[in-house]
Amino acid sequence: MKMNSNMFLVVLALAVSSWATQAQESGATSTPPDRPVPGQPGGRRGPPPWGGRDGSGPGASSSLSSAPAGKSEAEKQVLAVLDDMEKNQREGHAPNVQREEGRLLRLLAESTGAKHVVEIGTANGYSTIWLCLGLQSTGGKLTTYEIDPQLAAQARANFKQAGVDKIVTVVVGDAHVEAPKLKEPIDILFLDADKEGYVDYLEKLLPLVRRGGLVIAHDMNQRMADPRYLKAINSDPELESVFLNTFWGLGVTLKKH
Ligand SMILES: C[S@@+](CC[C@H](N)C(=O)[O-])C[C@H]1O[C@@H](n2cnc3c(N)ncnc32)[C@H](O)[C@@H]1O
Repeated sequence: MKMNSNMFLVVLALAVSSWATQAQESGATSTPPDRPVPGQPGGRRGPPPWGGRDGSGPGASSSLSSAPAGKSEAEKQVLAVLDDMEKNQREGHAPNVQREEGRLLRLLAESTGAKHVVEIGTANGYSTIWLCLGLQSTGGKLTTYEIDPQLAAQARANFKQAGVDKIVTVVVGDAHVEAPKLKEPIDILFLDADKEGYVDYLEKLLPLVRRGGLVIAHDMNQRMADPRYLKAINSDPELESVFLNTFWGLGVTLKKH
């Protein structure tokens, strides 16, 4: 898998857009600082030349972004299942990634040309299906781990409905025990299960992550991020990480070449 500068630009753009989303969701009303304009100390004031939009400002991303448009029938089918899951399956189990986080996962899987994604923490398969949207065009596959057999069964049904079941392997059991049995290289490792287990997953699976591959950790916010995990990824010179202020927070870590 090749990691290129385009991808980092995309990540950066999404970080900014996600910051805006979170600001809106938290009810923030302050406006972002104006960009300085050469020759105009203090920056430009007032609306941009195109007049701005209602609700522009920190919450602008919700009006900048629109619903994903399916390019093919297969993509439309997947998006319809994701819509249905958002409407009808949110209650009663561990929270899924938010839609924009799912879109970012798809984008990273597709833009990096990932061939093998490993996910720890399937739940009903919502984030898995976003990742599969990216893998549909890379010809990749995904292995996902879920300790709860009922959730795993629900996820399998969703994968079938979305038409991605053939590229997903669901492993039911404790990922601390099952995932280290993997032998194949990993392009993207997505951590979204027990937060206190992230360090163990990293230790056990990082050797399988290709150079140029990514470890993406969910729930990387001030309250939920395990300081031991932060230390592990921030102190290793083999790794480079950025933290995206998405709804739940995402840590994106590159295993350097
Ligand atoms: C936050 S949910 C995953 C949400 C999912 N990634 C999504 O966004 O659609 C975390 C899941 O991890 C599972 N889990 C917790 N500990 C686990 C373990 N040791 N091995 C495998 N799965 C585990 C839980 O049962 C739960 O379904």
